[in-house]
Amino acid sequence: MTSTARIIAIANQKGGVGKTTTSVNLATALSACGRRVLLVDFDPQGNASTGLGINPKDRQANSYRLITGEVGILEAIKPSSVPSLDIIAAVVDLSAAEVELTAVDRREFQLLDALKLGIPNYDYIIIDCPPSLGLLTVNALCAANRVLVPLQCEFYALEGLSQLMRTIETVRAGLNPDLAMQGIVLTMYDSRNKLSEQVAGDVRQHLGDMVYDTVIPRNVRVSEAPSFGQSVLMYDLHCAGSQAYVALAAEFLNQEKEAF
Ligand SMILES: Nc1ncnc2c1ncn2[C@@H]1O[C@H](COP(=O)(O)OP(=O)(O)O)[C@@H](O)[C@H]1O
Ligand SMILES: [Mg+2]
Repeated sequence: MTSTARIIAIANQKGGVGKTTTSVNLATALSACGRRVLLVDFDPQGNASTGLGINPKDRQANSYRLITGEVGILEAIKPSSVPSLDIIAAVVDLSAAEVELTAVDRREFQLLDALKLGIPNYDYIIIDCPPSLGLLTVNALCAANRVLVPLQCEFYALEGLSQLMRTIETVRAGLNPDLAMQGIVLTMYDSRNKLSEQVAGDVRQHLGDMVYDTVIPRNVRVSEAPSFGQSVLMYDLHCAGSQAYVALAAEFLNQEKEAF
């Protein structure tokens, strides 16, 4: 069975910028729009798995064992707390892959090769990347068609972005020529803080069209939801954070329509 899924890597080597939150909530919003979605937790911290209610004892078949070939893709896929959203969970063992993979043939393609083997039909596969530009993120970029970058509205937002862009360029040049930018989403925007406004203005000036119109506000409901094992859309659909992720999904789907 070949998959026609579009594969989106959610990447930024900085920690705490909203990668996991965006992965979980964009995936939830897309599945609420009737799309079949698989979320691959590719961060050893396993935050996306926890945030979607996957108990650590139910993670024997995980993304680490998937890329090492110990489990098959069908075994690794689990249903999440969101209907029509499946997940491949992560455990801390995945951090060892960063070193172990260096000695492996096609080390950059372990995730791609695993995903290609008999994956069921999904519309989207979303990969939540770890906060580094090491081999795990490179594997995600080699498996992906598109990269979506969350940028936190803070003073150092743009710092580090050029390094990420260079990595994407290197992967495109040598390993995955089809890789393209999906977009940049501003996260944790605080309307009471002048700095947020300035940073958002700066980012739009530098990156223009690449930046989504939708801005994700800082919202306490967004940060509460993971402790209930739920995406914020399931936890409180009407809060500002959920509504922003619904708007982001709509913008994303529009972009997809234009791309075909
Ligand atoms: N829009 C938001 N409003 C409030 N808190 C947020 C928001 N987005 C993310 N957070 C919180 O910020 C922290 C970092 O977000 P996370 O998505 O885990 O970042 P990353 O995956 O890039 O490390 C988490 O505690 C998360 O709950
Ligand atoms: Mg994360």
